[in-house]
Amino acid sequence: MTSEERTFVAIKPDGVKRGIIGKIIERFEDKGFKIVGMKLLQVTDELAAKHYEEHLGKPFYNRLIYYITSGPIVAMVIEGYNAVESVRHTVGKTSPMEADVGTIRADFAQIMQYNVVHASDSVESANREIGIYFKPEEIYDNWQSMSEIIAYDEERYTKQGL
Ligand code: CMP
Repeated sequence: MTSEERTFVAIKPDGVKRGIIGKIIERFEDKGFKIVGMKLLQVTDELAAKHYEEHLGKPFYNRLIYYITSGPIVAMVIEGYNAVESVRHTVGKTSPMEADVGTIRADFAQIMQYNVVHASDSVESANREIGIYFKPEEIYDNWQSMSEIIAYDEERYTKQGL
């Protein structure tokens, strides 16, 4: 079963500083995902603490907050079929050394501390993280993406018995 979902993705400060925003966005567009929200913003300490509250107390927490607030990020809301899992597959494992070749982290990063992108790990996290970074009116989905065109074609073919 496939279902349409939304997920939250961030190109982290290392991705922005390296000038690879376009290359990363291209991966999601090439896959046919629909970008329904996007902005460049500076993460404040407050935002960072909200975003990464589940990691509070972990040995890497302070460095993670330092890293995520070290420059602007590109925050995105991405829509697609099973978007949470599918985007994570496109992004690759948290450690770039373990990520499969062809994933963003394997191809653009070397170590876990600078792994270029963040992607929500569940539908619940996605809803929570989208709510942290986006107001409802900052999300635009009143246009047809490739996934929707595919869904429309599928319906048409089924009706025609193809
Ligand atoms: P992200 O997917 O944004 O979720 C938590 C982030 O913490 C992770 O990517 C890494 O950037 C960072 N991090 C740093 N060290 C570790 C670690 N030892 N385990 C997990 N995440 C880490």
